[in-house]
Amino acid sequence: MPTRLYPQSPAPPIESDSEFLTAFRDHEFDRDYPEDIYQQSACHWTPIDVCQMAAEWLVEKPGTRVLDIGCGPGKFCVIGATTTQGHFTGVEQRSRLVKAARDLLDRHRITRAEIVHGNITSVSFDAFDAFYLFNPFEENILPMLRIDHDVQMQPHLYDDYTLHVQQQLELKPLGTRIVTYYGSCAEVPECYTCTKTAYDGTLKLWLKTRSHHEDTEDATPPDPCRFPHLI
Ligand SMILES: C[S@@+](CC[C@H](N)C(=O)[O-])C[C@H]1O[C@@H](n2cnc3c(N)ncnc32)[C@H](O)[C@@H]1O
Repeated sequence: MPTRLYPQSPAPPIESDSEFLTAFRDHEFDRDYPEDIYQQSACHWTPIDVCQMAAEWLVEKPGTRVLDIGCGPGKFCVIGATTTQGHFTGVEQRSRLVKAARDLLDRHRITRAEIVHGNITSVSFDAFDAFYLFNPFEENILPMLRIDHDVQMQPHLYDDYTLHVQQQLELKPLGTRIVTYYGSCAEVPECYTCTKTAYDGTLKLWLKTRSHHEDTEDATPPDPCRFPHLI
């Protein structure tokens, strides 16, 4: 996936009809955003078909409450809310992305999605059943992934946010679902097992299969899914 490797690179060559259709759909969708946000889509916002599969994996029944940890301009929340029966909340720290996400929801009168402006550390995980992550914290340690200079980037923030999310996810009940797209998956605690993958292993569904307590006693061999698709 070259577009995910090189943030400023032009669109990759399209090799098949289905890739063309996918790119075309994303292009049409992303054109609804302001130009700067549109330009960042290929690298930073999840493609539509990936959003759709991730949302289907996360929403087990009508009303499942899904949190997108670092939602950018809300693309995953919009696609999730319009293709499943779930309720989608995105938390985003950058105000320009929050505004773009809220404008999009208003323009299309999408009611089963909302955007919270703030840091993930101030969100209660109790209010959610399932979680989505696409490289939220990596830009703190990988300058090539930096979205802009609107917020402070520090390597220690990667560790702080990753640990915070890990600890919150550990507390969730057995059966809790997480979907990760790319990334190190370091936010996913050891008590979760990867049960399904797609898109060459870059999209992963994780289920909480053990209690945190069991996990600390158990010397389970490393899950091959934990080998990262960093970017
Ligand atoms: C790679 S983008 C993914 C956007 C969206 N989830 C998607 O898949 O299209 C990661 C987003 O996480 C946001 N983010 C990073 N750290 C955050 C934090 N601590 N709290 C809230 N948002 C954060 C970034 O501003 C960025 O918009």
